[in-house]
Amino acid sequence: MVHLHTLEPFDVKEARQTPDFERRVANAPLSTTTLARPLGDVRASFFQRIVSYLHDAHIHGDYVETGVQRGLSAVASGGALACRNMLRPKGHARMWLYDSWEGFPASTVEDGEYGRTVTDRLTNRANFKRADPGHTYNTFFAGKGYSPEAVRQKLQNAGVATEDAVVFRKGWFNDTFKQVRPTRIAFLHVDSDIYQSVYDTLVAFYDLVEPGGVVLFDDFGHFEGARRAFYKFLVWERREMPLLERHGYTEAFFIKGKQHNRPPQGLPPQNPLSVDNWSSKKKCQEV
Ligand SMILES: C[S@@+](CC[C@H](N)C(=O)[O-])C[C@H]1O[C@@H](n2cnc3c(N)ncnc32)[C@H](O)[C@@H]1O
Repeated sequence: MVHLHTLEPFDVKEARQTPDFERRVANAPLSTTTLARPLGDVRASFFQRIVSYLHDAHIHGDYVETGVQRGLSAVASGGALACRNMLRPKGHARMWLYDSWEGFPASTVEDGEYGRTVTDRLTNRANFKRADPGHTYNTFFAGKGYSPEAVRQKLQNAGVATEDAVVFRKGWFNDTFKQVRPTRIAFLHVDSDIYQSVYDTLVAFYDLVEPGGVVLFDDFGHFEGARRAFYKFLVWERREMPLLERHGYTEAFFIKGKQHNRPPQGLPPQNPLSVDNWSSKKKCQEV
């Protein structure tokens, strides 16, 4: 029996410097926890917390992730959803996973210098090796762990019935977002790094998020383009003022429709996703 909270902190940067990083991720022992481990325990348990909130608040709908790559966050979320019987065939939800599995499209001026350099490095095979000695484009993108098949395998290992529960959408967002989409979303996880991809995700899926559903931006504090897309779509265009909460140095999220964090009279302040509210009772046990 393994619990997410038993994880030791895991430093991805340090791990990447070890020669067998990709092999270790690809061959990781078969439990959600271990597979989610390169996320770091804090981030992995955050997915547990979000899913636990959705479960307890009876927010029904699917999980959508735009930017899946090796599936670290998909596995953390999928394991948590499966553990609570929220996914098909036991429950009703599906996971919709979108990625090119071929890297990023071209960045734009909206991404700023840092974002442009990083995505160019990750997308351009020649630049990649130069910018990141010790790693090649192939070990990062075409490695064993970087494909829908590899993600499917990891999800299955995490207890997700992928045939029933998971829809893989491989290709560029501007093609795959035109295909059949979910109708109700409980959890929209935006992890696609660059301005246009984050903006397109919001255009395609924001209106499908249920009231009470969670919208999570992985890159808010890390990539300027992701933050710009958030403000452009929600504030400038939609004139909404989501109650944005932060998690870690980069993540930002909000509960759709939530207007304030004032507690009901006589009760202490409460945020259903805050660390303070997370008791071990709420953790779903893993395989
Ligand atoms: C940071 S990675 C996702 C990490 C993943 N959530 C995890 O935890 O393992 C971002 C991914 O977004 C994908 N991506 C970004 N923009 C895209 C687009 N327009 N079309 C398809 N894939 C895109 C990239 O291929 C990349 O794999």
